[in-house]
Amino acid sequence: MRTIDWDKETKTIKLIDQTLLPVEYKVIECSNLSSLCEAISSLRVRGAPALGAAGGFGLALTATLSSARTMDSLLNDLEKAGNVIKSTRPTAINLSWAIDRVLQATSDAYDVEGMRDIVIDEALRIAEEDVDTNKKIGKNGAELLEDGDVVMTHCNAGRLACVDWGTALGVVRSAVEDGKDIKVVACETRPLNQGSRLTTWELMQDNIPVTLITDSMSGHVMRKGLIDKIIVGADRITEDVVFNKIGTYTHSVLAAEHEIPFFVAAPTSSFDFEGWEGSVKIEKRDPDELRFIGGVQYAPSEVKVYNPAFDATPMENISAIITENDVFYPPFIIDEIRM
Ligand code: MRU
Repeated sequence: MRTIDWDKETKTIKLIDQTLLPVEYKVIECSNLSSLCEAISSLRVRGAPALGAAGGFGLALTATLSSARTMDSLLNDLEKAGNVIKSTRPTAINLSWAIDRVLQATSDAYDVEGMRDIVIDEALRIAEEDVDTNKKIGKNGAELLEDGDVVMTHCNAGRLACVDWGTALGVVRSAVEDGKDIKVVACETRPLNQGSRLTTWELMQDNIPVTLITDSMSGHVMRKGLIDKIIVGADRITEDVVFNKIGTYTHSVLAAEHEIPFFVAAPTSSFDFEGWEGSVKIEKRDPDELRFIGGVQYAPSEVKVYNPAFDATPMENISAIITENDVFYPPFIIDEIRM
């Protein structure tokens, strides 16, 4: 199934619980706003494009559950719910982008029932478009990969981070579909291990060769000449930087040092065209994510912890940005990407 979907019969959200992978594959149902917000905060659903779909479906859920009898009161419920959902994770712009897009679509409504339908349809359209967009990113990005390439990636920018196909891993999938022999090196991505738990799992499902390394091995494998290209996803792209999972910046510096192409694959919905590095809030997560691994204590329980979920990679470290529209090369002109 898709990573996240709207169940038209039960009018609930179905999603793969990514906290259980790779040990258990389980689809859970979110039938109210608080269960959806819990699923987002605890990373049962995660990855910028999947969060966009979650935001849209969150409003579909709100429209379904709301007892509002006028357009004004339904809009009020939707705006309130939108703010609650947006506050769950502040960095990935797709979440607020999708919520704003659905809210915007309500302006076409003539009556309250029509508004409910518009909200659900727009949320479904966002999810559907995500799959199509990722296929286009894949097609554009596949041109950059050669037969025999070893591609390093960080975190999970695959099927599980999107509705389907993936951005960075979508590029790999498209190249493999074109008949190229591509091998992936996945960084484990401490502290929540999206690389070791999710990237390896989903690539192995597709029989795409993958080798797991710790994050701190990336310099070593680059220096040894074992990596041809690096592709990562993005949570938010501003004029000056790319925000992505913590550790991405470190890989980019090492890639520049070793003259390895460093690509970012992302939909235009991940661009913050008005933003810059300083305008963006980087999510700080629970200190216990570093003190414990799988419930086992790995640090003194009272130790001071710094746990930002994302970092910022300056544009000068990026060789190309792959979107659904094109492949862009430096200098990146934000207005050209905006189109
Ligand atoms: O904290 P997460 O797991 O939501 O972080 C996800 C990432 O950093 C991904 O690389 C990014 O969202 C791109 S997903 C196509």
